[in-house]
Amino acid sequence: MSNIIRNIKGTKDILPDESNVWQYIEDKIHSFFKIYGYSEVRTPAFENTALFKRSIGEETDIVSKEMYNWIDQGGNNLTLKPEVTASVARLFIQHNLGKINPINKLYYIDSLFRRERPQKGRFRQFQQFGVEALGSKYPEQDAEVIALIYNFYQYIGLKKITLKINSIGSKETRNKYKEQLYQYLLPFKNDLTKVSQTRLKNNPLRILDTKIDFEINIIKDAPHIIDCLNDADRLHFDKVLHYLDLLKIGYSIDHRLVRGLDYYSRTVFEIQSDELGAQNALCGGGRYDYLIQDLGGESTPAFGFAAGLERLIIALNLSNEKLKDNPDIYIISIGDDAINLSVQLSNELRLNEKLIVHTDTLRRSLKAQMKEANKLKAKYTIIIGDDEIQNKQVTIKNMKDGQQDSIHLNNIKSYFNNTK
Ligand code: HAM
Repeated sequence: MSNIIRNIKGTKDILPDESNVWQYIEDKIHSFFKIYGYSEVRTPAFENTALFKRSIGEETDIVSKEMYNWIDQGGNNLTLKPEVTASVARLFIQHNLGKINPINKLYYIDSLFRRERPQKGRFRQFQQFGVEALGSKYPEQDAEVIALIYNFYQYIGLKKITLKINSIGSKETRNKYKEQLYQYLLPFKNDLTKVSQTRLKNNPLRILDTKIDFEINIIKDAPHIIDCLNDADRLHFDKVLHYLDLLKIGYSIDHRLVRGLDYYSRTVFEIQSDELGAQNALCGGGRYDYLIQDLGGESTPAFGFAAGLERLIIALNLSNEKLKDNPDIYIISIGDDAINLSVQLSNELRLNEKLIVHTDTLRRSLKAQMKEANKLKAKYTIIIGDDEIQNKQVTIKNMKDGQQDSIHLNNIKSYFNNTK
């Protein structure tokens, strides 16, 4: 086993005894997001590196140190997608979606790649599901998207979730606030970590989301960005909170929430779960009214979020076994003629009756096949041996109550029709 090739650190195989949970959640995402009127989009796994540099921002952790990028054989600078918003913005501009529809409500489920330090809930390849609503500048759009994901978590069974919300205003607000924050933090400069000292110069806002206790202590009395909002931004934020109140969605205003990507303006939010440990953000998002224009499209206000699927799965802790579809029928076949019949009969029952049918393809003994049928929790077994072939009668056993019926070959389908 020592020289076998293993998966890359920070990536994960999803095995048969986990995949039902994944499928269950993915099905729920599709059906739930559609009732809010959102349509699915799918974007390629890799894009031009410039797309992420221009949207997420060169100074961010993602772009400066976490992207998987390379120059291909044709000399193109390419990157495995670290997030989906930039790709959806590109898709929106490239396919003129804004001209076709004044409002575009889109969702996705996708694989992303970031070279972060792996730990519980943090991977180098991970899955996100999310939405991007492109076209509306109004606060009801913010509230609709926040309600969608908040209600989705409730609907799927997450009990303890916390919605944190903040407004980072317009670019002018942020510039004004950066100066205030810089002045506040300057006397503490030597107490800050090396990383924060660099951020103090480049982007002091990022110091606000520090996870280090003594820095949190320093920040506790820092000025609040919402006190720098202009009237229009303040009104927008108040309206978002008003709609959340109307929807009875509880939230707390988090003055330290600024998000680690550059494209946001006005509302930003995160939903957290206590079940997750250090990586407690289930999802994050906000408004990005300038991104489409910055990428060369027509000015289009937008709001969205993305949510980690692995983190949702950890927090939900569902039983794969309970979500499994047990076989309707296990066909036990002994001998060549029985195998002939099993091959045909299983196919007919699957295609015509839409039943889940398992057969033995290992030519095991009667006892071993019975054991397998039990293990798989099959609802019925059909036993076919030489005698059954000769008499054109098979034994159908109800595995729950043990009742056995001898049924003519021609009547098998109608037997199962009657038991449905
Ligand atoms: P983000 O905060 O970078 O935002 O990621 C959103 C969510 O993806 C996180 O809250 C977390 O659940 C999950 N996530 C991120 N990194 C990892 C990782 N290494 N391993 C496992 N899960 C992870 C965005 O990506 C923005 N595009 C969100 C957005 C959409 N804003 C507007 N529209």
